[in-house]
Amino acid sequence: MSDAKKMKSVLAVLSGERRDPPPVWLMRQAGRYLDEYRQVRSRARNFIDFCLSPDLAVEVTLQPIRRFGFDAAILFADILLVPMALGRDVRFVAGEGPQLDPLAPEEIDAMMVGDVEGILGPVGETVSRLSRNLPGETTLIGFAGSPWTVATYMIEGGGSKDRMKARALAWAHPERFDALMDRLAEATVRYLVMQAQSGAEVIKLFDSWAEGMSVPLFERAVLRPTKAIVDGLRAAGVTVPVIGFARGCGSMLPRYARETGVTAVALDQGVDPRWADAVLPAGMPVQGQLDPAALLAGGTALDIETRRVISAWQSRPHIFNLGHGITPEVPVAHVERLMAAIRQ
Ligand code: CP3
Repeated sequence: MSDAKKMKSVLAVLSGERRDPPPVWLMRQAGRYLDEYRQVRSRARNFIDFCLSPDLAVEVTLQPIRRFGFDAAILFADILLVPMALGRDVRFVAGEGPQLDPLAPEEIDAMMVGDVEGILGPVGETVSRLSRNLPGETTLIGFAGSPWTVATYMIEGGGSKDRMKARALAWAHPERFDALMDRLAEATVRYLVMQAQSGAEVIKLFDSWAEGMSVPLFERAVLRPTKAIVDGLRAAGVTVPVIGFARGCGSMLPRYARETGVTAVALDQGVDPRWADAVLPAGMPVQGQLDPAALLAGGTALDIETRRVISAWQSRPHIFNLGHGITPEVPVAHVERLMAAIRQ
């Protein structure tokens, strides 16, 4: 067997090779749609404690690998651990999502990047244990939120419909906003260097709220900070591939792909594959982009949509995934059906 054939499938695709069938994993693959997840979850005092307990985090990372045989495991943690490490109060309220004390513009000046590696050290421990215990063919993905998406939660005090406060702060206080992006990028680089040194083989950057931004705002909030993170990782000697997910970025995709230094782009279901194929750099691998609602629907609609996504990406190295995270209502049988459709 050649070396190329022995390479883990996700790493092979990220190095530019096509695989047929494509490797597959799902965003939010560890989560409430699994009984075994809910069982472990109920053992933790709160969600932050859960993320910072290597025993529990390792277990729930492995659950979807055992059940479905995905080609990649994504570290179990959350993008809001970084604001927590920066001293913000972060709470997860059952049924209501995350809540933070809204960050006022004046507070940004005093924000310091402290002991990220110490506070988030347990995540490093989770990554090292995973890297010793995963099946040999499974790729270990580390991740962080991108500065803009993380900042939206910090400024809004939680999730929001249109990120209006965060966008207004960026326009009204440009220096402070840019300083916030810089500080988040610095903390994120340190966090991701720790993950890579602990054994993460791929890094994914989640910019889940990259939609609806004007060009100058996209440049300041998405392009520049994402490039700062990729450059920071490379300067620290981290060579692993980086998957960038600027969800909803629409026509900004070609600039995101060319200007940030990411290795590959994850696409949401709203991106036309023919357009994306024409505008992305030659050979750049893509990940995506099944509509999570098709997975929820199941049945032949799921089979047809799965085949359409696979055939839409015959032209490039492709990792099969959803266009956004799996939802808690999805029956396990639908995920089994998806896996059968991909690997048949
Ligand atoms: O399996 C995996 O994907 C790994 C772990 C992971 C979680 N969150 C666990 C989690 C990852 C990669 C994330 C990323 C994340 N977190 C994002 C970016 C991806 C995306 O979906 O857009 C965002 C925006 C967050 C912030 C966040 N965390 C929200 C808005 C919520 C509440 C909404 C929800 O789904 O409940 C969380 C909580 C959270 N993070 C849960 C899980 C499994 C559910 C909480 C629980 O189990 O009680």
